[in-house]
Amino acid sequence: MKIVMLGAPGAGKGTQAKMIADRYHIPHISTGDIFRMNIKNGTPLGQEAKTYMDAGKLVPDELTVKILLDRVAADDCSEGYVLDGFPRTIPQAEVLTEALTKLADKIDYAINVDVPDENIVKRMSGRRSCPSCGQVYHITHMPPKAEGICDKCGAELVQRDDDKPETVENRLKVYHDQTQPLIEYYEKAGVLKNVDGTKDKDEVFAAIAAILD
Ligand code: AP5
Ligand code: MG
Repeated sequence: MKIVMLGAPGAGKGTQAKMIADRYHIPHISTGDIFRMNIKNGTPLGQEAKTYMDAGKLVPDELTVKILLDRVAADDCSEGYVLDGFPRTIPQAEVLTEALTKLADKIDYAINVDVPDENIVKRMSGRRSCPSCGQVYHITHMPPKAEGICDKCGAELVQRDDDKPETVENRLKVYHDQTQPLIEYYEKAGVLKNVDGTKDKDEVFAAIAAILD
């Protein structure tokens, strides 16, 4: 099963993608997490990506597409995967469709987690994430058991550099300009499914599981 998660920054793509990955035993692939891992490790890719990410802009397609295509070619992706944060532009979607078509394959579901802009800033300012295993929390909606510590692996939680209100506003603008058109792209492909992302995370997941089961 090959799944694409669509939705604004902070809509809960990462939260739901992790739950999907656990339930259906497929890898969760987040281009944002791949970039953040590279930033943390100080790689040249990370250094380049950081300048765009901190400004709330998209990392250029050439760079992003290569990373994603390499990742989905790995052995653990043979039974499928859930993509979170890719594609984010029409050209990225076209490259993915083309690569899959060559393998006589396709995306089975594009799940659009729908959350209005008003809710987004609140979610972002309270988000904390684990730099080690990627688990995502919210200081009020989904707090960890011990403040500031990851439930899963015990690492110290961090706030993302791009979760400042000014940057969030920019990311939302970029989303509406460049990423939202993908909803129509996947609708035309006949694989779009909308879920209401304003509900609590387990309700959102129940709606997704009803689609995928
Ligand atoms: P990326 O890491 O993909 O960020 P994003 O799309 O902005 O999305 P987020 O991770 O911020 O939000 P999310 O939808 O995953 O929400 P989450 O589950 O964390 O990309 C970062 C940057 O990398 C981009 O700006 C760009 O520069 C670059 N990049 C990445 N991919 C790229 C690409 N393909 N091309 C070019 N550039 C790329 O939830 C958010 C918060 O809300 C959390 O605190 C969570 O606990 C809480 N929450 C989640 N669900 C609920 C709920 N149902 N109710 C209440 N709270 C909830
Ligand atoms: Mg995310």
